[in-house]
Amino acid sequence: MDILFKERLLLNANMSKKIAIDQQVKRFYKYLKTNGNIEKLGTNSDNRAEPIHRWFSFLPGFSHAFVRTTLGYFYPHENEANIVTVHDPFMGSATTAVAGRNYGINVVGNESNQFLYEIGRAKTHLIRNIEQLPLIKQNILEVAERKWRKQDISKENMLLRKCYDWPFLKKLVELREIYRSKLVPDEFKPYVFLTISSLLSRCSHVGISIPYVSWSHERIAEEPLELFGKIFDHIKEDLSAAGNQDNVVVKIYQHDSRVQNNKIKEKSVDFIFTSPPYLNNFDYGEALKVYSYFWGFTKDWHDITEKVRKKSLTCATTHYKELLYKSKSPKDILGEEFISDAPKTTRIIIDKVNLITKARSKKNRKKSFDILTVLYFKDMYNVLSEMHRVLKNNSLCFITIGDSAPYGVYVPTDEILGRLAVEIGFSKYSLGTLRTRGKKWLNLTHRHKVTLRESLLVLRK
Ligand SMILES: C[S@@+](CC[C@H](N)C(=O)[O-])C[C@H]1O[C@@H](n2cnc3c(N)ncnc32)[C@H](O)[C@@H]1O
Repeated sequence: MDILFKERLLLNANMSKKIAIDQQVKRFYKYLKTNGNIEKLGTNSDNRAEPIHRWFSFLPGFSHAFVRTTLGYFYPHENEANIVTVHDPFMGSATTAVAGRNYGINVVGNESNQFLYEIGRAKTHLIRNIEQLPLIKQNILEVAERKWRKQDISKENMLLRKCYDWPFLKKLVELREIYRSKLVPDEFKPYVFLTISSLLSRCSHVGISIPYVSWSHERIAEEPLELFGKIFDHIKEDLSAAGNQDNVVVKIYQHDSRVQNNKIKEKSVDFIFTSPPYLNNFDYGEALKVYSYFWGFTKDWHDITEKVRKKSLTCATTHYKELLYKSKSPKDILGEEFISDAPKTTRIIIDKVNLITKARSKKNRKKSFDILTVLYFKDMYNVLSEMHRVLKNNSLCFITIGDSAPYGVYVPTDEILGRLAVEIGFSKYSLGTLRTRGKKWLNLTHRHKVTLRESLLVLRK
């Protein structure tokens, strides 16, 4: 009998004794540390060469191996689709969904960003007619080759016209037109959408996405039609290798995880594995704007605010109007429910926020990191409450999260979230460090010198 199987039996036998799960988490953390490079787990670096995960590179993503190792540890028998469901409320590029499905476990999740939701749908889309993919590719490339020169790109968004050389933009626009036409049967459209989206970063001569369009970051743009063929071949190859996964249910909702998702029933999930946005002023709407402009999901700053930022966790100062909160105290912003459910965490947050306000006025800085901090924890209160609702009793929730230091004031986001979770009903939290962060910014004179970390926060219901 292997060790993992023994542990599983022990866990089942002791389900009522909550202590068994805590010991298991401790042992698991040790196991992570001794088996491989723990520093990489919170990053997407090993997804780039991995089947399916490699179709679209998403820098804020975590490692597919992290999901796989964790599920393998807690559910040592593959193909437990008939009993186990894992939930990810911040699905991003669907790493959890793909890794969970490959392992034979059901996955349910939310993603609020329309573009990423479509990417996740494509990566988890299954078709029977894999053999038709080469023909679809050939048809698309033949038409594109013939017609791209006639494309009129003068009305394309100015940003797109700056990010691509004109012949490349014409090819991308032609591919988009083909995607929207009847030439691509509906069941293949998700793959074509994903492939064109992947071209958008690789065919530009500048860094288009993370964290912002970076004009100084000159790079060699790849030729769109040739690259389209290559990525499409990967899709065929990876789908063929994955085999039949019809028995596993994967469901991703385009949904804001701060709000109850009625499609996910109370106490219906066995495990949560996720990574929410960090309190670090990273604006996903801004970072993904080239994609969302290209697909017409948004067209300008105002649109990004209305359609992306307002539906996301508040994690950047661009997500709200400072004026709306300026005259309010942190307590007013948190609201009565938060304060009465989590009085101890309220005090910790208010102390931190007061320090940030002081540091801000001392440095005479514009960005309202103090308000941002309050709004972030208020949003996470709603997210944690919803996680608690959907999780079965005694079950675990794994959260990869970074801490913060707005204006140099250290905010242990991971620890505060752990305390908040316990105050709203989780029975215990534990923390382990995955890696240190932020070292490459240490030389910037206007930036704080606090060393940050990325942690694994484990909650038990
Ligand atoms: C750190 S990323 C998750 C990355 C993911 N683990 C992966 O491997 O691709 C956080 C994600 O949360 C999404 N998000 C932000 N606010 C959200 C909300 N309120 N509800 C659902 N998703 C949200 C963002 O769009 C982003 O994709």
